[in-house]
Amino acid sequence: MIYDYLIVGAGVAGLYASLHIPKGCSTLILSKDPIWECNTFYAQGGISRAVDEEDIPLHIADTIRAGAGLCNVEAVEILARNSIEVVDDLIRRGFQFDRDEAGRLLFTQEAAHSRPRILHAGGDATGRELHRFLLSQTGAQLLEGVLVVDLLVEGERCYGVTVQHGRQRTNIYAKTILLASGGIGSLYEYHTNSKKISADIHGLAILRGLPLKDMEFTQFHPTVFVHNKRARKYLLTEALRGEGATVVDETGRRFLFDYDPQGELAPRDIVARAIFRHQQAGHRVYLSFERFSEAFFKRRFPTISMIFRNLGFNVPYDQVPISPAFHFMMGGIEVDTNSRVKGFENLYAIGEVACTGVHGANRLASNSLLEGLVFSKRAVEASLASPSKGRELSFPVLGDDLVKEGDQEAKQHLRETMWHKVGIIRRRQELQEARELVEGMLDRPIGHLLRLRALTARSIIDGALARRESIGAHYIED
Ligand code: SIN
Repeated sequence: MIYDYLIVGAGVAGLYASLHIPKGCSTLILSKDPIWECNTFYAQGGISRAVDEEDIPLHIADTIRAGAGLCNVEAVEILARNSIEVVDDLIRRGFQFDRDEAGRLLFTQEAAHSRPRILHAGGDATGRELHRFLLSQTGAQLLEGVLVVDLLVEGERCYGVTVQHGRQRTNIYAKTILLASGGIGSLYEYHTNSKKISADIHGLAILRGLPLKDMEFTQFHPTVFVHNKRARKYLLTEALRGEGATVVDETGRRFLFDYDPQGELAPRDIVARAIFRHQQAGHRVYLSFERFSEAFFKRRFPTISMIFRNLGFNVPYDQVPISPAFHFMMGGIEVDTNSRVKGFENLYAIGEVACTGVHGANRLASNSLLEGLVFSKRAVEASLASPSKGRELSFPVLGDDLVKEGDQEAKQHLRETMWHKVGIIRRRQELQEARELVEGMLDRPIGHLLRLRALTARSIIDGALARRESIGAHYIED
């Protein structure tokens, strides 16, 4: 069988794309793990949206400023101009954003936005609510527990993917393919991402000749609790600072003002670096909620309230120790403003796996769910405007071992190296050392999945080495 549409990934971009595919089309969505295991599910803050028509130029300007001027301006304009429409579409379909007592949408403030512009749902559970909602709306066939291990590419076309499903390895063919697999979180020792986000598709992109762009721009979230045992560290949403939480050290001092006059509301890269430097200087850093009443905190941040009470913190009275952690990949598979992968006819990349250029060197808070919505819709519209005929072409099924002995230790070593040498503050010598480690790994007979990780890591390191000046999230000290 050849599907009309194959979507790799079941986060916001993949699911929202499926809502725009005409009903008569056969559409299959692949999810690597249980369907909710994706970054969308864990997104707390919200969805940025131009408040009204007059706010569109300001939303554009804020996005470009946060992106350190390296954004694709056309893509940013598309993002902001379509923000009202996609949010209206969600509301029309029945999605419930948080509202005030008079029924007006509640917009919150987040760092580097020049006005409150963030819509949220379930208080601090925007991603979870949105994911649940989109799942309830999609008519596509969903397949869980399916690992994509190859892209079936020839010339300017992608014919499908090879998947490992339980013990079975098989090819799935489709006329149009949308990659919506998310970022690269678990390449780093500390990250806020779903544990399934492991850079496989970026690695496959490299292996099969898809273009990658801006891979050096890796965003670190400033306020993360990193002491839990899970691979995914607990995010403390930016909206907390937007609503009045402060960052203090062990003496209670709000030291962020030493680094930027906007303090807690400075752009994310500045806050992350300031916290990192303060920690390197021997300080301990905390998020303080002393401005919040208990009732407000519980109502506005119910998920964080529950998680941290379960961890033994009497929030909002206790401060929570924080650290930066990897959060979002600005770079990715290079696409045009219709989300079509550069150089390909029927292959699209949407959401975090794509590089539309909207984020430039540093993403503005809460622009990612919005990007997933706006550009997934455009991908489907573009595919409908130039339909792909699809052609029987039989590819051999990849025979490589996915995992080999020793991969687990090597993977952990890679994660530590990425965190320490390709992290918040970079040095050329350390980047070179990281590159040598990755090259050594690629020269050994490692499993296919580790190879994909290592290829992605190498592209981040190469991007970082090539960009000699500090800009946005790429900060290089020598
Ligand atoms: C957050 O809630 O702080 C994360 C939002 C985002 O990554 O844009």
